[in-house]
Amino acid sequence: MKVLVVGSGGREHALCWKIAQSPLVDEVICAPGNAGTALVARNAGVNATDLEGMVTLARTEGVGLVVIGPEDPLCMGLGDRLRACDIPVFGPNADGAYLEASKVGSKEFLERHRIPTAGSRRFDRSGLAKGHLESVTDWPQVIKADGLAAGKGVYVCDDVKSAKTAIDQVMEERRHGEAGNRILVEEFLEGEEASVFAITDGSTILILEPVQDHKQVGEGDTGPNTGGMGVFSPVANLGTRVHKQIEQRVLVPTVHALRQENIDYRGILFVGLMLTDSGPRVIEYNVRFGDPECQALVRRLKSDLVPILLATATGTLESIEPPEWDSRACVGVVGAAGGYPDTYTKGDPISGLAAAEELDDVVVFHAGTRDKDGDVVTDGGRVLCVTALGKTVEDARELAYAGYDRIQWDGKFCRRDIGDRHAGKAPVLDDPGDF
Ligand code: AMP
Ligand code: GLY
Repeated sequence: MKVLVVGSGGREHALCWKIAQSPLVDEVICAPGNAGTALVARNAGVNATDLEGMVTLARTEGVGLVVIGPEDPLCMGLGDRLRACDIPVFGPNADGAYLEASKVGSKEFLERHRIPTAGSRRFDRSGLAKGHLESVTDWPQVIKADGLAAGKGVYVCDDVKSAKTAIDQVMEERRHGEAGNRILVEEFLEGEEASVFAITDGSTILILEPVQDHKQVGEGDTGPNTGGMGVFSPVANLGTRVHKQIEQRVLVPTVHALRQENIDYRGILFVGLMLTDSGPRVIEYNVRFGDPECQALVRRLKSDLVPILLATATGTLESIEPPEWDSRACVGVVGAAGGYPDTYTKGDPISGLAAAEELDDVVVFHAGTRDKDGDVVTDGGRVLCVTALGKTVEDARELAYAGYDRIQWDGKFCRRDIGDRHAGKAPVLDDPGDF
């Protein structure tokens, strides 16, 4: 079987790497891919948001499965277009992807189905939103642009003044374009943040191993948000009781609600949660794998991923045995281009990739890289993610940094505290069970 992976980031390199190991697969095609995907797949020059081009590629290549990595093509309806041609797809249709495409839409969904979340008001005019804030006594408040804003459309505001500034930036200055047509003004939730990844075909739910990202650019969680600067798995500070609560109060009700609304959801449900005193509450839904969370998950997954993806795409997930996970920990360190997440240069030559992978249990997943006349050069803000397995998170972390230090390009940087949270800083949220 041929498998087509849509996208060009570290997540897609990790998916191609894992899928290429399956005995069920003859060839992996990645569109558009990067210099890393080219090592394990055949890159095809079709952009992820070129729906017409992608459908043509899938049809002419006769692929047996399409795995859609990023949110944009999912929200634009690539899943619908491929399914209309009877091609099995891992990833929801546009109606399911609306959970990520619209924060107002997902809030209404959560409220309709009484799934726990933060209280909120929605506004499509800045004056009304500001007027509302004048009467608010509880601070902070959270201002959220409705549409896709690459993780940058959320503002936690400590007072009326900063909230009004955020509203102006989103609704008047159009900092996130059309995404700012509407906003949510949301109650600030206190607690520990956690995220959960589940695969569902709309009936069966398969919860994946716990994994944690580091969203901010600076050590100690400082500075602006990014796509994700590093990852570790497993996450020992979530206990079995919390795990059960998340399953029973959030995941199962979400899948029931999707069915009730006739949304045929086949793919990833990635739920961002706040673990509050009154239990888990949903902060956001994403409809695709996290990046770099996916990189750590595929490193720890011992089972073949392809039967799981295919069963999800064809609605037969119930027939799949629970996957086997490596008991070792994984740490992934993202190397970024100087200046990220603001402006940065592209085209800088990268050396030392092979030397890094000479270390046992180190795999480098490319993100913003491309091939330039046989050399690998930088081509994005997050350039690559060095992953390592180790007996403990501490061991894996040491090895991941050893790999990272063998790689060079001008201006590279990383966070040096990936996985620190695991090393005793965060409280255990109930018992240290097996979650
Ligand atoms: P989101 O894109 O909705 O996940 O929001 C980005 C980040 O903003 C989250 O990871 C949280 O750290 C923070 N955040 C979002 N909503 C809330 C909320 N209601 N209360 C507290 N923090 C929030
Ligand atoms: N790493 C967070 C995300 O992919 O949304």
